[in-house]
Amino acid sequence: MTLLSAYGQQEPKEDMALTHVGPGKPMGELMRRYWQPVCLSEELADLPRRIRILCEDLVVFRDLSGNIGCLALHCAHRGTSLEYGRIETGGIRCCFHGWLYDTQGQCVEMPCEAPGIAERMNIHQPGYPVQEHGGLVFIYMGPPDRQPLLPLYDIIDPTFWENAELRGMRLWEDHSIGFVRDCNWLQHYENVVDPYHLQILHNMISGDQFGSAVTSGDWPDIAFEETNIGVRYRSARDLPNGNHIVRYTECILPNLFMVANIHEKGDVPKDKEKCREISWCVPVDDEHIFGISIVAWPLKNGEPDPDWKAGVDTLTNIRPGNLRDRPYEEKQRWPDDMEAQESQRAIAVHELENLAHSDRGIVLLRRALRKAVLDVEEGRDPLNIVRDETANKAIETHGWTSVTTISERSEAVA
Ligand code: FES
Ligand SMILES: [Fe+2]
Repeated sequence: MTLLSAYGQQEPKEDMALTHVGPGKPMGELMRRYWQPVCLSEELADLPRRIRILCEDLVVFRDLSGNIGCLALHCAHRGTSLEYGRIETGGIRCCFHGWLYDTQGQCVEMPCEAPGIAERMNIHQPGYPVQEHGGLVFIYMGPPDRQPLLPLYDIIDPTFWENAELRGMRLWEDHSIGFVRDCNWLQHYENVVDPYHLQILHNMISGDQFGSAVTSGDWPDIAFEETNIGVRYRSARDLPNGNHIVRYTECILPNLFMVANIHEKGDVPKDKEKCREISWCVPVDDEHIFGISIVAWPLKNGEPDPDWKAGVDTLTNIRPGNLRDRPYEEKQRWPDDMEAQESQRAIAVHELENLAHSDRGIVLLRRALRKAVLDVEEGRDPLNIVRDETANKAIETHGWTSVTTISERSEAVA
Protein backbone atom coordinates (compact mmCIF):
# COMPACT_ATOMS: atom_id res chain seq x y z
CA MET A 1 0.00 0.00 0.00
CA THR A 2 1.28 3.43 -0.84
CA LEU A 3 0.42 6.37 1.33
CA LEU A 4 -1.35 9.15 -0.54
CA SER A 5 0.65 12.16 0.53
CA ALA A 6 -1.27 15.21 1.70
CA TYR A 7 1.69 17.35 0.66
CA GLY A 8 0.72 20.10 -1.72
CA GLN A 9 -2.96 19.16 -1.81
CA GLN A 10 -5.13 22.13 -2.53
CA GLU A 11 -8.60 22.49 -1.12
CA PRO A 12 -11.29 23.21 -3.67
CA LYS A 13 -13.96 25.79 -2.94
CA GLU A 14 -17.30 24.87 -1.43
CA ASP A 15 -20.39 24.35 -3.55
CA MET A 16 -21.48 27.97 -3.61
CA ALA A 17 -24.82 27.28 -5.30
CA LEU A 18 -26.11 25.19 -2.39
CA THR A 19 -24.31 26.73 0.56
CA HIS A 20 -24.13 30.51 0.19
CA VAL A 21 -27.25 32.27 1.40
CA GLY A 22 -26.50 35.98 1.02
CA PRO A 23 -28.54 38.26 -1.26
CA GLY A 24 -28.06 37.48 -4.93
CA LYS A 25 -26.54 34.03 -4.27
CA PRO A 26 -28.48 31.11 -5.81
CA MET A 27 -29.41 29.47 -2.49
CA GLY A 28 -29.90 32.87 -0.87
CA GLU A 29 -32.46 33.75 -3.53
CA LEU A 30 -34.20 30.36 -3.15
CA MET A 31 -34.49 30.78 0.63
CA ARG A 32 -35.86 34.29 0.12
CA ARG A 33 -38.83 32.92 -1.83
CA TYR A 34 -40.30 31.42 1.36
CA TRP A 35 -41.51 32.80 4.67
CA GLN A 36 -38.73 32.18 7.18
CA PRO A 37 -39.19 32.06 10.97
CA VAL A 38 -37.12 34.55 12.94
CA CYS A 39 -38.24 34.17 16.55
CA LEU A 40 -41.04 33.13 18.87
CA SER A 41 -44.07 35.39 19.18
CA GLU A 42 -43.50 35.50 22.92
CA GLU A 43 -39.97 36.79 22.42
CA LEU A 44 -41.29 40.11 21.15
CA ALA A 45 -41.90 41.88 24.43
CA ASP A 46 -40.89 45.36 25.51
CA LEU A 47 -37.47 45.37 23.83
CA PRO A 48 -36.57 45.17 20.14
CA ARG A 49 -34.88 42.00 18.97
CA ARG A 50 -31.81 42.11 16.78
CA ILE A 51 -31.68 39.24 14.31
CA ARG A 52 -29.37 38.07 11.58
CA ILE A 53 -30.82 35.88 8.87
CA LEU A 54 -29.55 35.00 5.38
CA CYS A 55 -26.56 37.33 5.99
CA GLU A 56 -28.80 40.36 6.69
CA ASP A 57 -28.98 42.28 9.97
CA LEU A 58 -32.49 43.29 10.98
CA VAL A 59 -34.53 44.36 13.97
CA VAL A 60 -37.90 42.85 14.87
CA PHE A 61 -40.26 44.47 17.33
CA ARG A 62 -43.89 44.56 18.43
CA ASP A 63 -45.06 48.11 19.02
CA LEU A 64 -47.32 48.98 21.92
CA SER A 65 -50.33 48.78 19.60
CA GLY A 66 -49.49 45.11 19.00
CA ASN A 67 -48.23 45.46 15.41
CA ILE A 68 -45.00 43.72 14.45
CA GLY A 69 -42.33 45.31 12.30
CA CYS A 70 -39.14 43.96 10.78
CA LEU A 71 -36.78 46.69 9.63
CA ALA A 72 -33.19 47.06 8.53
CA LEU A 73 -31.00 47.28 11.62
CA HIS A 74 -29.27 50.61 11.00
CA CYS A 75 -31.29 53.80 11.33
CA ALA A 76 -31.79 55.66 8.07
CA HIS A 77 -30.65 58.87 9.77
CA ARG A 78 -27.04 58.14 10.71
CA GLY A 79 -26.87 54.41 11.22
CA THR A 80 -27.42 53.72 14.91
CA SER A 81 -28.70 50.20 15.54
CA LEU A 82 -32.41 50.10 16.19
CA GLU A 83 -31.85 47.28 18.69
CA TYR A 84 -31.26 50.17 21.14
CA GLY A 85 -34.46 51.86 20.07
CA ARG A 86 -37.48 52.45 22.28
CA ILE A 87 -40.73 50.71 21.53
CA GLU A 88 -43.72 53.01 21.53
CA THR A 89 -47.37 52.90 20.51
CA GLY A 90 -46.58 54.13 17.01
CA GLY A 91 -43.44 52.10 16.30
CA ILE A 92 -39.77 52.11 17.27
CA ARG A 93 -37.85 55.28 18.16
CA CYS A 94 -34.13 55.40 17.42
CA CYS A 95 -32.21 56.11 20.62
CA PHE A 96 -29.82 58.64 19.04
CA HIS A 97 -31.97 61.50 17.69
CA GLY A 98 -35.38 60.02 18.20
CA TRP A 99 -36.59 59.35 14.69
CA LEU A 100 -39.73 57.26 15.05
CA TYR A 101 -40.47 54.52 12.51
CA ASP A 102 -43.81 52.79 12.26
CA THR A 103 -43.97 49.05 11.55
CA GLN A 104 -44.03 49.77 7.82
CA GLY A 105 -40.73 51.65 8.12
CA GLN A 106 -42.17 55.12 7.53
CA CYS A 107 -40.37 57.75 9.60
CA VAL A 108 -43.25 59.58 11.25
CA GLU A 109 -41.43 61.82 13.72
CA MET A 110 -38.14 63.74 13.79
CA PRO A 111 -38.12 65.47 17.17
CA CYS A 112 -34.94 67.50 16.43
CA GLU A 113 -36.49 69.01 13.30
CA ALA A 114 -39.07 71.69 12.74
CA PRO A 115 -42.69 70.59 12.36
CA GLY A 116 -43.44 69.30 8.86
CA ILE A 117 -39.87 68.23 8.05
CA ALA A 118 -40.54 64.51 8.65
CA GLU A 119 -43.44 64.63 6.18
CA ARG A 120 -41.40 66.58 3.65
CA MET A 121 -38.34 64.32 3.84
CA ASN A 122 -40.56 61.20 3.64
CA ILE A 123 -37.91 58.78 4.92
CA HIS A 124 -38.47 55.03 4.71
CA GLN A 125 -36.50 52.51 6.71
CA PRO A 126 -36.48 49.41 4.50
CA GLY A 127 -37.93 46.22 5.91
CA TYR A 128 -39.80 43.02 5.26
CA PRO A 129 -43.40 41.80 5.61
CA VAL A 130 -44.18 39.91 8.80
CA GLN A 131 -46.77 37.39 9.90
CA GLU A 132 -47.30 35.18 12.94
CA HIS A 133 -48.35 31.57 12.91
CA GLY A 134 -48.27 28.79 15.48
CA GLY A 135 -46.34 30.87 17.98
CA LEU A 136 -43.60 31.90 15.54
CA VAL A 137 -42.86 35.17 13.76
CA PHE A 138 -42.15 34.80 10.03
CA ILE A 139 -40.70 37.29 7.55
CA TYR A 140 -40.61 37.29 3.77
CA MET A 141 -37.32 38.58 2.34
CA GLY A 142 -37.90 37.92 -1.35
CA PRO A 143 -39.08 40.04 -4.28
CA PRO A 144 -42.35 41.76 -3.23
CA ASP A 145 -44.18 40.67 -6.38
CA ARG A 146 -43.38 37.00 -5.69
CA GLN A 147 -44.62 36.85 -2.10
CA PRO A 148 -46.33 33.47 -1.52
CA LEU A 149 -48.54 32.19 1.27
CA LEU A 150 -47.12 30.45 4.31
CA PRO A 151 -47.82 26.81 3.40
CA LEU A 152 -50.18 25.26 5.93
CA TYR A 153 -48.66 21.83 6.29
CA ASP A 154 -51.03 19.48 8.06
CA ILE A 155 -49.33 19.48 11.42
CA ILE A 156 -49.31 23.29 11.58
CA ASP A 157 -52.88 23.67 10.34
CA PRO A 158 -54.94 24.17 13.50
CA THR A 159 -57.92 22.51 11.82
CA PHE A 160 -55.96 19.29 11.32
CA TRP A 161 -55.89 18.31 14.98
CA GLU A 162 -58.89 17.64 17.12
CA ASN A 163 -57.23 18.47 20.37
CA ALA A 164 -53.92 20.22 20.10
CA GLU A 165 -52.34 23.60 20.52
CA LEU A 166 -49.65 24.89 18.18
CA ARG A 167 -46.68 26.10 20.18
CA GLY A 168 -43.65 27.89 18.83
CA MET A 169 -40.59 26.44 20.49
CA ARG A 170 -36.95 27.26 20.57
CA LEU A 171 -35.07 24.89 22.74
CA TRP A 172 -31.76 26.67 22.68
CA GLU A 173 -28.46 25.25 21.84
CA ASP A 174 -28.44 22.49 24.38
CA HIS A 175 -31.05 20.50 22.58
CA SER A 176 -31.13 18.45 19.48
CA ILE A 177 -34.05 20.17 17.80
CA GLY A 178 -33.70 23.76 18.96
CA PHE A 179 -30.17 23.62 17.74
CA VAL A 180 -27.61 26.27 17.02
CA ARG A 181 -24.69 25.27 14.86
CA ASP A 182 -21.56 27.09 13.85
CA CYS A 183 -21.48 25.66 10.35
CA ASN A 184 -23.25 25.87 7.05
CA TRP A 185 -27.00 25.25 7.09
CA LEU A 186 -26.83 22.32 4.67
CA GLN A 187 -24.70 20.25 7.04
CA HIS A 188 -27.47 20.16 9.57
CA TYR A 189 -30.23 19.80 6.99
CA GLU A 190 -28.54 16.83 5.34
CA ASN A 191 -28.32 15.16 8.72
CA VAL A 192 -32.10 14.70 8.63
CA VAL A 193 -31.84 12.27 5.69
CA ASP A 194 -28.76 10.49 7.03
CA PRO A 195 -30.24 7.62 9.08
CA TYR A 196 -26.99 5.68 9.01
CA HIS A 197 -25.37 8.09 11.43
CA LEU A 198 -27.99 7.20 14.03
CA GLN A 199 -26.58 3.72 14.27
CA ILE A 200 -22.94 4.78 14.24
CA LEU A 201 -22.60 8.19 15.94
CA HIS A 202 -25.55 7.91 18.30
CA ASN A 203 -25.03 4.29 19.22
CA MET A 204 -21.77 2.56 18.32
CA ILE A 205 -19.46 5.52 18.99
CA SER A 206 -21.14 7.47 21.76
CA GLY A 207 -23.26 4.78 23.40
CA ASP A 208 -26.99 4.35 22.94
CA GLN A 209 -28.01 8.00 23.15
CA PHE A 210 -31.70 7.56 22.49
CA GLY A 211 -32.40 4.50 24.61
CA SER A 212 -35.16 3.57 22.22
CA ALA A 213 -36.09 1.22 19.41
CA VAL A 214 -34.56 3.64 16.92
CA THR A 215 -30.98 2.42 17.19
CA SER A 216 -31.13 -0.72 19.29
CA GLY A 217 -30.43 -4.04 17.66
CA ASP A 218 -29.40 -4.84 14.11
CA TRP A 219 -29.29 -2.54 11.16
CA PRO A 220 -32.73 -1.48 10.04
CA ASP A 221 -33.84 -1.73 6.45
CA ILE A 222 -33.38 1.76 5.06
CA ALA A 223 -34.79 3.26 1.89
CA PHE A 224 -34.93 6.77 0.46
CA GLU A 225 -37.40 8.41 -1.81
CA GLU A 226 -38.47 11.77 -3.14
CA THR A 227 -41.87 12.98 -2.03
CA ASN A 228 -44.05 15.67 -3.58
CA ILE A 229 -42.70 18.13 -1.01
CA GLY A 230 -39.13 16.93 -0.46
CA VAL A 231 -37.16 13.81 0.42
CA ARG A 232 -37.71 11.21 3.09
CA TYR A 233 -36.25 8.00 4.41
CA ARG A 234 -37.92 4.91 5.68
CA SER A 235 -36.31 2.86 8.40
CA ALA A 236 -37.82 -0.47 9.46
CA ARG A 237 -36.72 -3.20 11.83
CA ASP A 238 -37.91 -6.15 13.85
CA LEU A 239 -37.57 -5.57 17.56
CA PRO A 240 -36.52 -8.04 20.24
CA ASN A 241 -39.93 -7.56 21.88
CA GLY A 242 -41.60 -9.17 18.89
CA ASN A 243 -42.80 -5.93 17.31
CA HIS A 244 -41.88 -4.31 14.04
CA ILE A 245 -41.20 -0.58 13.77
CA VAL A 246 -41.34 1.63 10.69
CA ARG A 247 -40.21 5.26 10.85
CA TYR A 248 -40.47 7.93 8.17
CA THR A 249 -38.51 11.17 8.46
CA GLU A 250 -38.90 13.92 5.89
CA CYS A 251 -37.11 17.02 4.64
CA ILE A 252 -39.60 19.53 3.25
CA LEU A 253 -37.96 21.93 0.84
CA PRO A 254 -36.30 24.27 1.21
CA ASN A 255 -35.34 24.05 4.92
CA LEU A 256 -38.08 22.36 6.95
CA PHE A 257 -38.05 18.90 8.42
CA MET A 258 -39.92 16.49 10.63
CA VAL A 259 -38.18 13.68 12.48
CA ALA A 260 -40.05 10.55 13.56
CA ASN A 261 -39.89 10.27 17.35
CA ILE A 262 -36.36 9.20 18.27
CA HIS A 263 -37.53 8.13 21.71
CA GLU A 264 -40.01 5.57 20.39
CA LYS A 265 -39.72 2.38 22.42
CA GLY A 266 -41.77 0.24 20.06
CA ASP A 267 -43.73 -1.49 22.79
CA VAL A 268 -47.21 -0.17 22.02
CA PRO A 269 -48.77 -0.80 18.59
CA LYS A 270 -49.54 2.38 16.66
CA ASP A 271 -50.65 3.05 13.16
CA LYS A 272 -48.87 5.86 11.36
CA GLU A 273 -48.49 8.08 14.37
CA LYS A 274 -47.83 11.46 12.85
CA CYS A 275 -44.84 13.59 13.78
CA ARG A 276 -46.04 16.46 15.94
CA GLU A 277 -43.07 18.76 15.49
CA ILE A 278 -41.94 20.59 12.38
CA SER A 279 -38.66 22.47 12.44
CA TRP A 280 -36.89 25.05 10.34
CA CYS A 281 -33.14 24.96 9.84
CA VAL A 282 -32.63 28.70 9.40
CA PRO A 283 -29.38 30.03 7.94
CA VAL A 284 -28.07 32.97 9.95
CA ASP A 285 -25.30 33.39 7.40
CA ASP A 286 -23.07 30.99 5.48
CA GLU A 287 -21.48 29.60 8.63
CA HIS A 288 -24.19 29.71 11.30
CA ILE A 289 -27.69 28.36 11.71
CA PHE A 290 -30.43 28.21 14.28
CA GLY A 291 -33.39 25.90 14.64
CA ILE A 292 -36.92 26.70 15.63
CA SER A 293 -40.06 24.60 15.69
CA ILE A 294 -43.80 24.48 15.85
CA VAL A 295 -45.07 21.66 18.02
CA ALA A 296 -48.66 20.41 17.92
CA TRP A 297 -48.97 19.83 21.63
CA PRO A 298 -51.88 17.60 22.75
CA LEU A 299 -54.44 19.17 25.05
CA LYS A 300 -55.85 17.60 28.17
CA ASN A 301 -58.90 19.27 29.66
CA GLY A 302 -58.27 22.20 27.36
CA GLU A 303 -54.71 22.74 28.60
CA PRO A 304 -51.40 21.59 27.10
CA ASP A 305 -50.91 18.09 28.45
CA PRO A 306 -47.94 18.25 30.85
CA ASP A 307 -47.54 14.50 30.65
CA TRP A 308 -47.32 14.22 26.89
CA LYS A 309 -44.40 11.89 26.53
CA ALA A 310 -42.75 13.07 23.34
CA GLY A 311 -43.17 16.63 24.49
CA VAL A 312 -41.69 15.99 27.87
CA ASP A 313 -38.81 14.26 26.16
CA THR A 314 -38.44 17.22 23.89
CA LEU A 315 -38.18 19.55 26.82
CA THR A 316 -36.21 17.58 29.33
CA ASN A 317 -34.41 14.66 27.82
CA ILE A 318 -31.38 16.62 26.75
CA ARG A 319 -28.53 14.54 25.44
CA PRO A 320 -25.30 15.57 27.16
CA GLY A 321 -23.71 15.46 23.74
CA ASN A 322 -25.68 18.44 22.58
CA LEU A 323 -24.14 20.81 25.07
CA ARG A 324 -21.83 23.28 23.40
CA ASP A 325 -19.75 23.89 26.49
CA ARG A 326 -18.35 20.58 27.58
CA PRO A 327 -14.76 19.50 27.98
CA TYR A 328 -12.86 18.87 24.77
CA GLU A 329 -11.89 15.38 25.89
CA GLU A 330 -15.53 14.54 26.51
CA LYS A 331 -16.40 15.75 23.02
CA GLN A 332 -13.69 13.50 21.62
CA ARG A 333 -14.82 10.45 23.57
CA TRP A 334 -18.56 10.99 23.07
CA PRO A 335 -19.03 13.15 20.01
CA ASP A 336 -22.53 14.14 18.99
CA ASP A 337 -24.25 15.85 16.07
CA MET A 338 -22.61 19.16 16.92
CA GLU A 339 -19.08 17.74 16.70
CA ALA A 340 -19.85 15.68 13.61
CA GLN A 341 -21.45 18.52 11.67
CA GLU A 342 -19.32 21.48 12.66
CA SER A 343 -16.10 19.56 12.07
CA GLN A 344 -17.04 18.90 8.45
CA ARG A 345 -15.50 22.41 8.12
CA ALA A 346 -17.40 25.68 8.49
CA ILE A 347 -18.70 24.95 5.00
CA ALA A 348 -18.25 21.33 3.88
CA VAL A 349 -16.45 20.96 0.58
CA HIS A 350 -18.55 18.66 -1.59
CA GLU A 351 -15.81 18.25 -4.16
CA LEU A 352 -13.65 16.48 -1.59
CA GLU A 353 -16.35 14.01 -0.55
CA ASN A 354 -16.61 10.40 -1.62
CA LEU A 355 -20.31 9.68 -1.50
CA ALA A 356 -21.32 6.05 -1.05
CA HIS A 357 -24.56 4.05 -1.18
CA SER A 358 -25.57 5.12 2.31
CA ASP A 359 -25.49 8.76 1.18
CA ARG A 360 -28.42 8.34 -1.15
CA GLY A 361 -30.59 10.64 0.96
CA ILE A 362 -27.98 13.37 0.69
CA VAL A 363 -27.76 12.90 -3.06
CA LEU A 364 -31.54 13.12 -3.47
CA LEU A 365 -31.74 16.18 -1.25
CA ARG A 366 -28.99 18.06 -3.05
CA ARG A 367 -30.55 17.20 -6.39
CA ALA A 368 -33.94 18.50 -5.27
CA LEU A 369 -32.39 21.70 -3.91
CA ARG A 370 -30.40 22.22 -7.10
CA LYS A 371 -33.56 21.88 -9.14
CA ALA A 372 -35.33 24.41 -6.91
CA VAL A 373 -32.42 26.84 -7.31
CA LEU A 374 -32.62 26.42 -11.07
CA ASP A 375 -36.37 26.99 -11.03
CA VAL A 376 -35.85 30.36 -9.38
CA GLU A 377 -33.05 31.28 -11.75
CA GLU A 378 -35.23 30.45 -14.74
CA GLY A 379 -38.25 32.33 -13.46
CA ARG A 380 -40.39 29.43 -12.23
CA ASP A 381 -41.87 28.96 -8.77
CA PRO A 382 -39.82 26.36 -6.90
CA LEU A 383 -41.34 23.45 -4.97
CA ASN A 384 -43.69 24.28 -2.08
CA ILE A 385 -44.58 27.76 -3.20
CA VAL A 386 -48.27 28.09 -2.42
CA ARG A 387 -50.39 30.92 -3.82
CA ASP A 388 -53.89 29.46 -3.86
CA GLU A 389 -55.68 30.25 -0.59
CA THR A 390 -58.24 27.53 -1.13
CA ALA A 391 -55.55 24.86 -1.61
CA ASN A 392 -53.61 26.02 1.41
CA LYS A 393 -55.09 23.56 3.88
CA ALA A 394 -53.51 20.65 5.74
CA ILE A 395 -50.91 19.99 3.05
CA GLU A 396 -49.91 16.39 3.62
CA THR A 397 -46.53 15.68 5.16
CA HIS A 398 -45.03 12.22 5.38
CA GLY A 399 -43.26 11.74 8.68
CA TRP A 400 -44.65 9.15 11.05
CA THR A 401 -44.02 6.02 13.11
CA SER A 402 -45.83 2.69 13.02
CA VAL A 403 -45.45 -0.20 15.41
CA THR A 404 -47.03 -3.55 14.61
CA THR A 405 -46.49 -7.09 15.75
CA ILE A 406 -44.09 -8.89 13.44
CA SER A 407 -46.83 -11.31 12.41
CA GLU A 408 -49.11 -8.46 11.41
CA ARG A 409 -46.35 -6.48 9.79
CA SER A 410 -47.71 -4.41 7.00
CA GLU A 411 -45.63 -2.61 4.50
CA ALA A 412 -47.77 0.47 4.31
CA VAL A 413 -45.73 3.08 2.56
CA ALA A 414 -47.76 6.24 2.33
S1 FES B 1 -29.10 57.83 14.02
FE1 FES B 1 -31.17 57.30 14.36
S2 FES B 1 -32.15 59.15 14.77
FE2 FES B 1 -30.11 59.72 14.37
FE1 LIG C 1 -27.86 13.03 14.83
